[in-house]
Amino acid sequence: KHAVIIDCDPGTDDTIALVMALASEALDVKAVTTVAGNQTADKTALNGLKIVSYLKKEIPVAKGADKPIMRPLVTAEHVHGETGLGPVTLPEPSIEGLDTPAWDLFYQLSAAKNEKIHLITLGPLSNVAIALMKYPQLRDYITHITMMGGSMGYGNDTPAAEYNIYADPEAARMVFEAGIPITMVGLDCTHQAWLTREEIDTIEAPEGSGAWLAKAMMNHIHAFATNYGFPGAVMHDPSAVAAVIDPTLIETKDYYVAVETKGKHTTGKTVVDVMGVTKKPANVAVAVGIDRERFVQLVQELMKA
Ligand code: BDR
Ligand code: CA
Repeated sequence: KHAVIIDCDPGTDDTIALVMALASEALDVKAVTTVAGNQTADKTALNGLKIVSYLKKEIPVAKGADKPIMRPLVTAEHVHGETGLGPVTLPEPSIEGLDTPAWDLFYQLSAAKNEKIHLITLGPLSNVAIALMKYPQLRDYITHITMMGGSMGYGNDTPAAEYNIYADPEAARMVFEAGIPITMVGLDCTHQAWLTREEIDTIEAPEGSGAWLAKAMMNHIHAFATNYGFPGAVMHDPSAVAAVIDPTLIETKDYYVAVETKGKHTTGKTVVDVMGVTKKPANVAVAVGIDRERFVQLVQELMKA
């Protein structure tokens, strides 16, 4: 089993990703940490607790940053709704969050125990940046970061930038420069990972199940994404989790990637050196494609678990 921590901002698609990760036999989820992003820090933290309680898992949940490291928070309420969970109202959580902040928990679950960890990030990178500032030795214990974020091409929150990087570009820049191997599951990949109406409909979703929760989110995203012209519900965060469960699902290319923090029109853009003009060594495996059919199969299987 692959030991992972999931840092997220639930979030409709984060919720699906959590349902998948917690159902997967391939992953040993050591903790779920939350960050301000799609909604405020209080809301994403509460949602994290609600989701883990609903799934009846005993996994530590810790809250992280209240806002990006150098900027005010820009939420994505227009996508994820007032609570952050779109159309779903979950019961109050039956577990409590840890008092330990996310960055201290990263340290406690890895360096402090001399254990390596794979970090999956599904939101802005504020918690990871704070962790790296406070505990530089984490570079040797976080063996890999698989992130949903960034784009080689166009953006979704601005014409140039993808939301998770745009929301905290200074944090993203620190993470990209940290020397930790990164797999960037950005829009180039996730925009190819959609679930059609029929594919969503085949998912059996008894009330109270993880599948029920995920399917409600899929239906919500389906309406939103098809409005934008996609053939189905685009699965951003689930693609990153899927890429850790089965790395053969995605195709990656190694590139040098920098994060724009000062652009007039391009702040938050992940600038990918496709032609190798900077001569800098690659720091990121950029996901450029996904085997959509096998991705859908994986999602459908995990919904039965
Ligand atoms: C990313 O932004 C968020 O709104 C989603 O949860 C996902 O992590 C997609 O750009
Ligand atoms: Ca997210």
